Amino acid sequence: MASGSVNGKTAIVTGGASGIGLEFVKLLYSKGCSVVIGDLDLAPEAEELVTKSSGSKVLFKKTDVTNWSQLSDLFTFTEEKIGAPDIVCPGAGIFEPAWSGFWPDTEDNGYKTIAVNVEHPTKATRLAIKSFLKAKKPGVVAHVSSMGGQTTRLAVPIHCATKAYINHFVRAFAELDQKENIRVVAVAPGMVRTPLWFKENPDKLKSVGDEDIWIEPSEIAEVLLRLCEDPAYKGGTVLEASGQGRTRVVEALNDPGPSTIGHDKGTNTALEDEVFQRLAKERSSRL
Ligand SMILES: NC(=O)c1ccc[n+]([C@@H]2O[C@H](COP(=O)([O-])OP(=O)(O)OC[C@H]3O[C@@H](n4cnc5c(N)ncnc54)[C@H](O)[C@@H]3O)[C@@H](O)[C@H]2O)c1
Repeated sequence: MASGSVNGKTAIVTGGASGIGLEFVKLLYSKGCSVVIGDLDLAPEAEELVTKSSGSKVLFKKTDVTNWSQLSDLFTFTEEKIGAPDIVCPGAGIFEPAWSGFWPDTEDNGYKTIAVNVEHPTKATRLAIKSFLKAKKPGVVAHVSSMGGQTTRLAVPIHCATKAYINHFVRAFAELDQKENIRVVAVAPGMVRTPLWFKENPDKLKSVGDEDIWIEPSEIAEVLLRLCEDPAYKGGTVLEASGQGRTRVVEALNDPGPSTIGHDKGTNTALEDEVFQRLAKERSSRL
């Protein structure tokens, strides 16, 4: 089974310039793992990390993960610069921003949220498997799902569905663990304090209730590291992380549902109220 310390290994982290991905890159680097960040751009903190590592341990390859030739180039770049990856984390994700949500009617040529959250991790998994096999080494693909994959919210139906996709997609690869030494796993965090909310989707903060709690991205990075290093997390594992050290395997069948803490429980319905206001307008415009 693919496992063991990440020291001396190589990783690709998409979305590694910010939030959970950036914390994971920092953690991998601190443990002696070389990393290539594939992202649209480098935020200052990520740029500092690349500079600090003198370009030998943390590299950046500008990548739009929705462009498959750029995604493929990310793997080629990694193989050429630091060797075939042992770990691939398709961490880039978006949270139904206004320009690619279900309700705003702003998308006229496909939903980018599906391209980033579903098509990219799907294609990245395919590319990872090829790369591991070509290099004749074990590998781990560590996805970033969400507790939103277990629940549903009317205001963000695409988001929840994309994360439910990841859960089931990951489980489909359970057999690769025993047979090919490749573990495909996922962390499913609750609400994580990252720019995804505060910079990209401040409107979504309206749905956060008083009793909802934030998880720090460094905690999710630690869970990702555990998933990568510990073979006890078998291929196909979806590991909910609800904060303050709590984790729980999300079963495919007869699962009791998400922890009662650490996620947006849906008690604050401000965003759903806005959906119904929108529907009321659409109904009256038809009359
Ligand atoms: N923040 C949360 O509450 C939370 C909870 C559960 C799951 N997640 C998931 O965690 C993952 C990381 O999110 P985060 O909270 O760290 O957000 P973030 O916005 O801080 O980071 C996301 C990164 O993805 C990159 N990205 C977006 N579109 C891209 C594209 N087309 N090509 C390349 N890179 C692209 C962004 O540039 C950014 O660096 C996502 O998959 C998200 O769905 C987040």
